[in-house]
Amino acid sequence: MFHFAYDEDGQLRAEEVLLETIAARVGTPCYVYSTATIERHYRVYEEALNGHPHLICYAMKANSCGAVLSLLAKKGAGADIVSEGELHRSLRAGVPADKIVFSGVGKTGGELEAALRAGILAFNVESEAELDELSAVALGLGSPAPVSLRVNPDVDPATHPYIATGLSESKFGVPITDGPRLARRVAEDPSLRLVGIDCHIGSQIVTLPPLMEALDSVLVLADELRASGHPVEHVDVGGGLGIPYEGEAPPHPSEFGAAVRARMSGRPEKVIVEPGRVIVGNAGILLSRVVHPKPTPSRRFLVIDAAMNDLLRPALYQAFHDIWPVRRSEAARDPYDVVGPVCESGDTFAKGRALPPLVRGDLVALMSAGAYGFVMSSAYNSRPRPAEVLVSGDRFAVVRDRESIEDLIRGERLPPWWDDSEEQR
Ligand code: LLP
Repeated sequence: MFHFAYDEDGQLRAEEVLLETIAARVGTPCYVYSTATIERHYRVYEEALNGHPHLICYAMKANSCGAVLSLLAKKGAGADIVSEGELHRSLRAGVPADKIVFSGVGKTGGELEAALRAGILAFNVESEAELDELSAVALGLGSPAPVSLRVNPDVDPATHPYIATGLSESKFGVPITDGPRLARRVAEDPSLRLVGIDCHIGSQIVTLPPLMEALDSVLVLADELRASGHPVEHVDVGGGLGIPYEGEAPPHPSEFGAAVRARMSGRPEKVIVEPGRVIVGNAGILLSRVVHPKPTPSRRFLVIDAAMNDLLRPALYQAFHDIWPVRRSEAARDPYDVVGPVCESGDTFAKGRALPPLVRGDLVALMSAGAYGFVMSSAYNSRPRPAEVLVSGDRFAVVRDRESIEDLIRGERLPPWWDDSEEQR
């Protein structure tokens, strides 16, 4: 359910709050998230899997804002983390350690230790070298580490190549054919404990078959391992269900859930899922103000105060984000190239996008920006990162301040030898 809509006066609101009010109070650019949308998406996913034991480990890389995480933690979500930073953020937000799974191809010894000390549910182990490292860390702590083998089922998710992860040539997971050997390796090591198998074949997947093909492969492996006496307490299907950005028609979570439940029926393993985008993607927008239109002999540019440093997806993946004027207009539309102020031609949000006439000071909303938006932002061009705002009904609050100029230069200093004058050398 979508909670960004025009009211009868043609004004765009986030739930009941006028985006114009947020822009006036908080400034632009800023991210605006809808509590109701996040809660609803989480509930729909929960309901989709009801009937089989399951755990939703929200892939917090999609949006790790403390307030968003706390909201999901309160609903009972676990977390899929990929760094020590995410471990701390998730614990701080109230996600219980025993609902946290740790993914990633390059976990350092320090990260493994921090997560083991915290008592997480499982390490999604992605290589034999990681097993060795985890074993050593666990031995040192005297605490066996729970291992879920992340296998690569070699399935084509038919998504953007940068976010496909389940092909044999990708850096992720271990070849599924290595599963039995690595399970034996885990079983023989008193510092390790096999708890599950997982996979994640990619992101923004808009059809079910690749996801189900991956799950089927994982279940074949689970059967094989169990037959050899290995416990497999859970299977983790990863994240990946896509969202509509530009008219895509991804399966509803209930279809995904029904397909998963059909396969899991009568099976002993708990199901873990790691959705990110589908929970928060359409729960957030990036609110921006027009700096000025800039017609040139060949293009009609619209320069806005958000840029690729605030929302990288269009520049990095040629991703489509709808752009809505905050004040609805019936005026004839013209094709605009919507760009930011950063000194790169790639700082382009849309080319030839049909928009009504817009002038300096008008507000626009870049839609579907709740996932992989703020988390991928940077301070490129020394642009402070934007504020984040959470709306609930008729209330809103800044849940992360806009960075200040002071924030930008925090930690910088000149080298101490510049105190000595060059003459003294
Ligand atoms: N689990 C693992 C191990 C992952 O690597 C990811 C995403 C997820 C779960 C969540 O996938 P989701 O449900 O969000 O599709 N920055 C890119 C997306 C990168 C996804 C990386 N991994 C984008 O903006 O499209």
